[in-house]
Amino acid sequence: MAQIPSTMRALAIPTYGKPSSYGVATIPTPQITQPDEVLIKVHAASVNPIDIKVAEGALKFAHKYKFPLVLGHDASGTIVAVGSAVDSLKVGDQVFTRVPGHDSGTIAEYCLSTVSATALKPESLSFVDAASIPLVGLTVLQVIRRAEAEIGGLKGKTAYVPAGLSGTGNVAVQLLKNVFGVKKVITTLSTGKIERSKELFKEGEGEVVYIDYTKENVSSAIGAGTVDFMFDTMAGAIDSLPLIRKGGSIVSISKTPSGEELKKKFASAPWIPVVVLNLVDQVNKWRASRYGVNYSYLWMNSDAKGLDELGQWVVEGKLQPLVGRTAKLEDLEAVKSGYNEVYQAKGGVGKSYTPFRSSTTSQPQPTNSFETLMNTAPAIKSTMSKSLTHAKIVARRSAARGHANHGWLDSHHTFSFASYHDPRFERFGSLRVLNEDRVAARNGFPTHPHRDAEIFSYILSGELTHRDSTIQKGKEVKEGDDFYRMKRGDVQFTTGGTGIAHSENNESDKPVHFLQIWALPWARGLTPRYHTKTFDEAKKREAFVPILSPLAAGKGASAEDEAAAVPALPGTIPIHADFVMAAGIISVGKKFEWTVGGESDAKAVVKSRSDRKVYIHVPMTNDGKSKIRLDSREDSILAEGDGAFVTGVQAGDVLSFESIGEVEAEVIVLDSD
Ligand SMILES: NC(=O)c1ccc[n+]([C@@H]2O[C@H](COP(=O)([O-])OP(=O)(O)OC[C@H]3O[C@@H](n4cnc5c(N)ncnc54)[C@H](OP(=O)(O)O)[C@@H]3O)[C@@H](O)[C@H]2O)c1
Repeated sequence: MAQIPSTMRALAIPTYGKPSSYGVATIPTPQITQPDEVLIKVHAASVNPIDIKVAEGALKFAHKYKFPLVLGHDASGTIVAVGSAVDSLKVGDQVFTRVPGHDSGTIAEYCLSTVSATALKPESLSFVDAASIPLVGLTVLQVIRRAEAEIGGLKGKTAYVPAGLSGTGNVAVQLLKNVFGVKKVITTLSTGKIERSKELFKEGEGEVVYIDYTKENVSSAIGAGTVDFMFDTMAGAIDSLPLIRKGGSIVSISKTPSGEELKKKFASAPWIPVVVLNLVDQVNKWRASRYGVNYSYLWMNSDAKGLDELGQWVVEGKLQPLVGRTAKLEDLEAVKSGYNEVYQAKGGVGKSYTPFRSSTTSQPQPTNSFETLMNTAPAIKSTMSKSLTHAKIVARRSAARGHANHGWLDSHHTFSFASYHDPRFERFGSLRVLNEDRVAARNGFPTHPHRDAEIFSYILSGELTHRDSTIQKGKEVKEGDDFYRMKRGDVQFTTGGTGIAHSENNESDKPVHFLQIWALPWARGLTPRYHTKTFDEAKKREAFVPILSPLAAGKGASAEDEAAAVPALPGTIPIHADFVMAAGIISVGKKFEWTVGGESDAKAVVKSRSDRKVYIHVPMTNDGKSKIRLDSREDSILAEGDGAFVTGVQAGDVLSFESIGEVEAEVIVLDSD
């Protein structure tokens, strides 16, 4: 285990002040002093308005903060030490947390949290995405649960969430419609954010009504007595009372807390502010009661169980983390600029982050999801000869991928992975990781754990030995799913589910070259499972050969269905995702076609048929001599190592690939919901 240094860098303020006065300091690394504590090496931490309020001294009447004060309340990272009473988490676990302490911040290389405030990060969720969730996610969840209890469920109801792209607002809109069955969510945004939010909120059930609060009169646009539940993110609760139906509920996170709430958080809060705050809260309650509305303030609590639920919804695609801008801790100006944006409470989108591991850019990236990239990146221009006129194709050039050469491992990352982080490339549909790896002879990945991810290796050349942790080297009986020496043409597939531990080693004298791919499963906690299969080289030279397709029994599969492991497309490995993978080897001058969604004879293979996301990858298998032309577009030519994001397509669309290099081209298709 790596040594924990005695000091660390942190965004630690020497005294109360505004963001312009923040600075990075070297301070002692926190140490575990309580049995329920965990020490986390922080990979990413996010910025919240409460950080600024604390830094300005807004709560100094209630608590004597210790200086230098480290800012930040939520983080993702790896556990490096645990207290004596911690048995559900261990050193090495990748976690996310909303720290419960008032004096232990997260915008630092290490942070302290407790076991009851820390949950395992779904493996498929990047550290940056994970750091965005704890504080806002838990707040929203606790508010929604209170509202449900007050008005007897939210199914089929109308909710009003001001500031739909704010940190809390975006999570609320997504959860209300995608998880809690709300029929209509009304939200307010400034002009520039309307289109962007339509993109983010288009998934799932429930209608979203967008109101431009800078142009329209919000109250007239909503109409009196039409809202069942208002989530008050912008301190507008009292002004909005006429909009709420009799018997409805307003839960505010943005007005002042009651004195009782304050005392729960700060036991030693003096009595005068407690009495005053109780009085103000009583007045708000009384004003609401005149409309027959229940008003309350909620102050969120740290909660590992809630984090588990939020993580599950992310894995299921019901909640998309919204990354605003990122900055490295070393780039203090960028960090302060992120804080300033939150301070002004204008213009920002989602959450700001401070990742501590190397990032490709220290410049703020006004981008979140891949859709934004599609809007900002130059699309490969169409030509007259293209056949899928509605498809948008954006290249991902080989040299622009993340690259790490550790000597024994040379890896190119299409998406953020390990120390490579680029918020524009976090995932594409269910596709989360695409690494092109070369492992030197007699080297490899020793036993390591996986959970809640579908992980597969596609061998391009050389040999890679896969072993489950329960199989000792030299004690293998015969090759099977859990022990296998993979060669070219083989695919080894792992459902991480509730957790497995395996190793992948090159036990030969030659390097091994392979693709390591991860997809997000449609549910967490699946039963772990391996599959290994060889795909015929000759068939790949005739047409695309399907390699993976969804488990035919779908999301509701029984234990028997899981054991039977029948894929939607015969001959493929079943994957727990609405995802199809195929591979082809196209000889020079030949043309292959891929039917989006892996359709054969109009048979539905995938559930989500519109808005498919198809990633094309040309592995570096032929010394750079292969090339393909996509969709007959003269300027959509991909060389080895290049990839392309194809969007705007639906199941049944036919995408063409011509091999136009000096030698045949190997092409991988990853077709996702
Ligand atoms: N009680 C708790 O436990 C708790 C927990 C979390 C947060 N909070 C509090 O809740 C509030 C919201 O937090 P947050 O993290 O969601 O904030 P945030 O992400 O910083 O929200 C800022 C966004 O709100 C939008 N906005 C500002 N005024 C608006 C208005 N009148 N109508 C519609 N949109 C408006 C701005 O967008 P435009 O650029 O479009 O104007 C801005 O991007 C803060 O006061 C925070 O301290 C409390």
